[in-house]
Amino acid sequence: MESKKIAGERAVDYVRDGMIVGLGTGSTVYWTLSRLGEKIKQGLSIQAVATSVQTESLAKEFGIALIPFSKVESIDLTIDGADEVDPEWNLVKGGGGALLREKIVADASKRLIIVADESKLVRHLGKFPLPVEVVKFGFEWTMRRLSGLGCSVKPRLSGDNPFVTDNGNFIVDCSFESIVRPRELHREINDIPGVIDNGLFIDRASRVIVGCQDGTVKELN
Ligand code: 5RP
Repeated sequence: MESKKIAGERAVDYVRDGMIVGLGTGSTVYWTLSRLGEKIKQGLSIQAVATSVQTESLAKEFGIALIPFSKVESIDLTIDGADEVDPEWNLVKGGGGALLREKIVADASKRLIIVADESKLVRHLGKFPLPVEVVKFGFEWTMRRLSGLGCSVKPRLSGDNPFVTDNGNFIVDCSFESIVRPRELHREINDIPGVIDNGLFIDRASRVIVGCQDGTVKELN
């Protein structure tokens, strides 16, 4: 919790007056939002785009001015969390179910800063089940196709019901033993009909800020 806080807060040092900022989703980004709110009270002026309904409501709570993504030509900087980060800074994201909006916003961003605690740094991706957003129609078939890629596949639940994303789709979590060729896997998954996108973020991060248990922050760049 403390390591997430210091990483999330540190990323705010990169936010400058007048920027359009993409706001990621999750418990690390929570601290980014709270710090941004403080800086705004002290006079920082930014506009922001949220990657989830949850982040939208937190941004409002912290007094961060939001603009619709449709009104934005490009985003100066996005700050987002990750579930896993490998040595090449390939990421697994989507633990909070927001991977699709997160990837669209990252794609529109000049820079993507990832904030994470040390536990997210891995040698190979894949210990964390890879989230895949799929359309509701035929999702059982899509799950069978996904399991053909050598993973065990589970529909994500919210209580007793399927978890539904902000976009009205389902998430299925795919457990691979290890993801050795993330770029190829990304393409193979997204080639399956019914898949909208998956939580692999390849070559997208421009900087990774890691909060450590001893209270220090490491910046990888
Ligand atoms: C949500 C995400 C999150 O950024 C990711 O799950 C990390 O979350 P946290 O900071 O709570 O550990 O990808 O879809």
